[in-house]
Amino acid sequence: MDVLERVKEVKILPVIKIDNAKDAVPLAKALIDGGLPAAEVTFRTAAAEDSIKAICKAFPDMLVGAGSLTSVEQAKAAQAAGAQFFVSAGFHRGVAEYAVANNIPYFPGVCTPSEIMWLVELGLPVAKFFPAGQMGGLKTIKAIAAAFPTMKFMPTGGVNASNVCEYLAYDKIVACGGSWMVKDTLINEGRFDEITRLTKEAMDLVK
Ligand code: 3PG
Repeated sequence: MDVLERVKEVKILPVIKIDNAKDAVPLAKALIDGGLPAAEVTFRTAAAEDSIKAICKAFPDMLVGAGSLTSVEQAKAAQAAGAQFFVSAGFHRGVAEYAVANNIPYFPGVCTPSEIMWLVELGLPVAKFFPAGQMGGLKTIKAIAAAFPTMKFMPTGGVNASNVCEYLAYDKIVACGGSWMVKDTLINEGRFDEITRLTKEAMDLVK
């Protein structure tokens, strides 16, 4: 199954900030135990690369990508570590061109029609709509989607257990990104049971 199909299948992409790479494998296990074998490990910390490596080694079947990418160097490091897809908070042309050239799915963060045209130009099929809640949520996505019939969306930012089903009910939405079940405080405090509980709760909702 290709990466985009797997993103659609899991429905939720947990946006993760790992401060210490030793937490990566227990965190991945907590997600798997909660029924969500997927992770977007953000390059917001120096531990991202080692964390991706460790997760890919421990759980080769898990869907693992790199998030918050802001440079081609980070994209290359993420790819070498085993990342299967790239995400950014915004659109980075260098990362986008690298992703297209290397056949790696890239979900750049955008929230306006003009930005979506950059994705159309490069043939990128899925926009991370970010920050979704603050930019008007589903109502805004529907208005923008009307003008771009083939574009699909992955809303992220302000998605949680109370609104994830509403987003996923719209057929232009492939999955939602969110950090609500993997808050960095939970990771740093080693509360992996709570991460499993919140993940299971989320997966039960979207099943
Ligand atoms: C991201 O950059 O994708 C966000 O931090 C995720 O948003 P959330 O924390 O509101 O889920």
